[in-house]
Amino acid sequence: MFFSIMSGRSMHFVLVGLVCLAVASAISCSSVGSSYNIMCLESERQALLQFKQGLVDESNALASWKSEKDCCKWRGIACNNQTGHVTGLNFSFSCDSYFNYSEVPLRGAMSPSLLELPFLNYLDLSYNDFEGIVIPKLIGSLSQLKELKLAHANFSGLVPPQLGNLSNLHTLDLFGNHDASSENLEWLSHLSSLRYLNMAWLNLSEAVNWPQSLSKLTLLTKLQLSQSNVSSNFVHIDLSHSQLEGPIPDVFTSMLSLVTLDLSWNKLEGGIPKGFQNLCSLESLTLWSNQLSENIEDSVKTLSCAENTLMTLDLSYNQFWGSWPDLARFSKLRELHLGKNQLNGSVPASVGQLSSLEHLSLSGNSFTGVIIESHFLKLSHLHYLGLSGNYFSINLSSDWNPPFQLTGLLDMSSYKLGPAFPKWILTQTNLTGLYLSNAGLSGSLPNKFWDIFSGLFQLDLSMNQIRGKLPNLSTMSLSNVYLSSNLLSGAMPSFSPELRKLYLSNNKFSEPLSCFCATQAPYLGLIDISENQLSGELPNYWKQFQGLEALKLEKNKLSGKIPSSLGNLKRLTLLSLNANNFSGELPSLENCTNTTSIMASDDSDDSFGLSSDEVGRCC
Ligand SMILES: *[C@@H]1O[C@H](CO)[C@@H](O)[C@H](O)[C@H]1NC(C)=O
Ligand SMILES: *[C@@H]1O[C@H](CO)[C@@H](O)[C@H](O)[C@H]1NC(C)=O
Ligand SMILES: *[C@@H]1O[C@H](CO)[C@@H](O)[C@H](O)[C@H]1NC(C)=O
Ligand SMILES: *[C@@H]1O[C@H](CO)[C@@H](O)[C@H](O)[C@H]1NC(C)=O
Ligand SMILES: *[C@@H]1O[C@H](CO)[C@@H](O)[C@H](O)[C@H]1NC(C)=O
Ligand SMILES: *[C@@H]1O[C@H](CO)[C@@H](O)[C@H](O)[C@H]1NC(C)=O
Ligand SMILES: *[C@@H]1O[C@H](CO)[C@@H](O)[C@H](O)[C@H]1NC(C)=O
Ligand SMILES: *[C@@H]1O[C@H](CO)[C@@H](O)[C@H](O)[C@H]1NC(C)=O
Ligand SMILES: *[C@@H]1O[C@H](CO)[C@@H](O)[C@H](O)[C@H]1NC(C)=O
Ligand SMILES: *[C@@H]1O[C@H](CO)[C@@H](O)[C@H](O)[C@H]1NC(C)=O
Ligand SMILES: *[C@@H]1O[C@H](CO)[C@@H](O)[C@H](O)[C@H]1NC(C)=O
Ligand SMILES: *[C@@H]1O[C@H](CO)[C@@H](O)[C@H](O)[C@H]1NC(C)=O
Repeated sequence: MFFSIMSGRSMHFVLVGLVCLAVASAISCSSVGSSYNIMCLESERQALLQFKQGLVDESNALASWKSEKDCCKWRGIACNNQTGHVTGLNFSFSCDSYFNYSEVPLRGAMSPSLLELPFLNYLDLSYNDFEGIVIPKLIGSLSQLKELKLAHANFSGLVPPQLGNLSNLHTLDLFGNHDASSENLEWLSHLSSLRYLNMAWLNLSEAVNWPQSLSKLTLLTKLQLSQSNVSSNFVHIDLSHSQLEGPIPDVFTSMLSLVTLDLSWNKLEGGIPKGFQNLCSLESLTLWSNQLSENIEDSVKTLSCAENTLMTLDLSYNQFWGSWPDLARFSKLRELHLGKNQLNGSVPASVGQLSSLEHLSLSGNSFTGVIIESHFLKLSHLHYLGLSGNYFSINLSSDWNPPFQLTGLLDMSSYKLGPAFPKWILTQTNLTGLYLSNAGLSGSLPNKFWDIFSGLFQLDLSMNQIRGKLPNLSTMSLSNVYLSSNLLSGAMPSFSPELRKLYLSNNKFSEPLSCFCATQAPYLGLIDISENQLSGELPNYWKQFQGLEALKLEKNKLSGKIPSSLGNLKRLTLLSLNANNFSGELPSLENCTNTTSIMASDDSDDSFGLSSDEVGRCC
């Protein structure tokens, strides 16, 4: 999205001047007609002459629209050079006209004879003077139109909703028709091919449905609504995933009643517009996943009028920089999403005074300093805590009794918390995600670990020194399991049907896979059990893992024939079997249409020779 502010009619000339500089060499107001002897069709020639009759052409700019028989050679007309059909009508009162003082804009009316040009795909009548008439609804019937430009053409009244029938339209430029308005922009949502929309300086002060409509224009890359006074009555606006580019539009700053604004998943740049100082009712601002880059202290200052209302501030996945903003007065703040930005300096313990806080994510920044118990002093409502990927250290006593009971995720990966498993984490019995990768943990997991955390969906304890065996996990709802690079041993247990990703590589698991294959997990997409000491044959029983996309078994002691049921894994893209003791041939993978990478053992002579009735034996 780009966005321009122009302060009135006087700027009009400046704009035109700029356009001239940019396209001067490309402009040709003469005909773009055929160089073969394809002539224009008589019916279309007549239609153009009628169109001309409706116009007042004081400077005789359309002089060529008469003498010359071939209308394809007329000024401003483009034809298809194979069929002779008129495809373009370009009579923008262009910049060469502007500086040719003998010409003045066309005036008058728009004749319905345009409908006799069924192949018209380009219509540009910008900068002429239609003397305050309403944009004719017949334009909505020019179904081949790809570009419609009626900028600054002195149209007024309601923009006809019939324009919504132009489903091939790429470009719609109605810029600068000050007296034209629209009260319901639902019709916009039907312009599914639209890439460029300019309704700046239209009167949209009563317009409803525009955010909803815009959010349906999934191909839109440029949008201008400046000075259109789009209604300030909006309360909830969701323009997430709308391909918006450029700065956050000022248009929101006049919406004094705005309560929620979601602009996430766009390509917005710059900072939070200063006009957000007017938004005193804002409860939720979601700017997640854009390219915003501003000193975060300034961004938060801009939101100061909302300090008594703001509950959700989501700035994650941007490039905000600077040090910890002053949030002390945002007493209602429940969700603070600052993850994946470029924030630095230390996190002050005053964050522990934000007593309404439920969600605190600071992961993936460059914060330094030490996190101590006072950082959580009054955070009794905290449900979610994400701290990983910063440069601070964590100094929480193992005996600490946290004021909160997390029900979501606890992410403290990459901080030294071990060697013993922190006792305070065991008080968090309602966790659904626990991420303690690379936390210096060693030894066995605490006794009741699997009971305490029986509600986990996500578990990441990879890159520690955890020893011991895994119990039967089929009654837990684990979906993503990351336990790679530890010292876990014994047999691979079975997991629940919820399992989606299983990373157990680089441990000391041994024994055949017999228990594991009691797992019935239709959504399981990835199994990585490479670099262990698993032995025995692979069971001939892979149908239960129909969703499997990657199977990594390399660097184990597996042996025997590679089971044919592997060939039924239709989604498989990666299969690695190398550095085992398999024998025989790789089964046909003809049905694994997506398999792009197979790494199989090359020393197929080394068979352990298990009898075939052991193949397929499964728990
Ligand atoms: C200005 O426009 C008139 C009428 O179209 C034309 O005859 C004349 O050549 C133009 N002059 C220049 C300098 O383009
Ligand atoms: C005819 O039109 C096509 C498509 O607009 C264009 O690519 C081609 O160059 C034209 N041929 C001539 C001889 O102008
Ligand atoms: C239409 O005319 C304007 C002004 O003369 C020019 O800038 C533009 O390139 C023309 N468009 C086409 C498709 O010829
Ligand atoms: C627009 O049309 C009205 C009505 O004819 C006229 O009074 C006015 O001067 C025109 N405005 C411009 C900017 O040409
Ligand atoms: C054109 O749009 C109007 C108003 O939105 C609608 O009533 C009409 O059915 C549409 N016509 C076609 C042919 O889609
Ligand atoms: C804008 O349009 C509305 C009707 O949609 C009208 O009531 C209002 O007076 C217009 N505002 C201006 C500044 O023309
Ligand atoms: C928008 O509002 C401003 C200030 O109220 C006014 O000057 C301007 O004419 C309005 N614009 C339109 C297109 O109604
Ligand atoms: C924080 O980062 C900025 C650049 O983004 C840098 O200028 C500043 O020195 C850094 N501050 C600290 C305390 O590291
Ligand atoms: C951690 O905090 C305790 C007191 O709370 C202090 O004695 C100790 O030195 C701190 N350790 C580190 C590494 O900062
Ligand atoms: C936490 O889990 C316990 C049972 O383990 C349950 O009684 C309690 O209501 C849960 N608390 C929350 C906040 O969900
Ligand atoms: C193969 O991959 C394509 C593209 O990723 C995917 O759309 C398709 O569903 C896959 N086929 C199977 C059988 O999984
Ligand atoms: C591949 O699928 C077809 C059709 O489902 C089946 O007849 C054939 O046996 C399968 N091939 C293998 C190797 O599983």
